[in-house]
Amino acid sequence: MQNILITGATRGIGREVVRQLTESDGYRIFASGRDGALLDALKSETGCVGATCDLSDAEAVVGLYAKAQAELGQVDVLINNAGFNRTKTSVAETPVQALDDSYAVNYRAAYLLAREAMKEMEPRQSGQIVNVVSTMAKTTGANYSVYCAMKHALAAFTACLAKEAGPRGVKVIGIYPGGVDTDFRPEDRPQYLKPSSAAKMILYALTAPDDVVVHELVYRPMVELNF
Ligand SMILES: NC(=O)c1ccc[n+]([C@@H]2O[C@H](COP(=O)([O-])OP(=O)(O)OC[C@H]3O[C@@H](n4cnc5c(N)ncnc54)[C@H](OP(=O)(O)O)[C@@H]3O)[C@@H](O)[C@H]2O)c1
Repeated sequence: MQNILITGATRGIGREVVRQLTESDGYRIFASGRDGALLDALKSETGCVGATCDLSDAEAVVGLYAKAQAELGQVDVLINNAGFNRTKTSVAETPVQALDDSYAVNYRAAYLLAREAMKEMEPRQSGQIVNVVSTMAKTTGANYSVYCAMKHALAAFTACLAKEAGPRGVKVIGIYPGGVDTDFRPEDRPQYLKPSSAAKMILYALTAPDDVVVHELVYRPMVELNF
């Protein structure tokens, strides 16, 4: 049995990861998001446990890990999936709050949860930490300075952590999806990946043979050519 803590589970890719993992018997899931009604619906649908948490609050982030650990006994897999891009402004038009909000959720929360995970995984010499980055960390774009830079930072953190964690028996996996048709943006994008497809690729990396670590898994819809 593998115990999993996943953030951003109330919608989109994270919700699909929980659905797909709970289709098999091998996983116990502690799911998190901010929306209590969506989280309750996910619990009823899949049998997962979980708690709401606003990841922009650093203390709450550390508290969330402790809650998951208490509920599951131990965390074997951390999936840092929550993220958003609300700021598509030029640098000149970007308010400081937009920078701070994005940093707190897209970077700091993932860092703190990985830190808490390493505290329990390192002594056990086992575990997996999955960071959902983005193909935006492989490129740059006008009016993307906030989200894109946070994802570049998350990619750099993921690689630094992988170098620390690998020799200590902990797998660190960077997931780089291209466009996925979720609530991430207000418009529908049917030409993008289905959330279920994006989730399936995360499970693919997570279930690699024991002697394999997928350091980076980059995948895109056919229409995305930002490589
Ligand atoms: N969709 C894409 O095109 C795409 C492409 C590449 C990478 N990604 C990455 O994939 C991940 C999942 O994205 P998605 O497309 O599934 O987005 P989504 O459908 O908008 O879902 C985002 C999830 O993150 C949670 N979240 C957002 N802000 C939060 C906060 N302050 N505290 C706690 N939870 C928060 C949301 O919870 P609540 O709604 O309950 O607040 C929701 O469960 C993100 O890291 C995103 O950057 C997405």
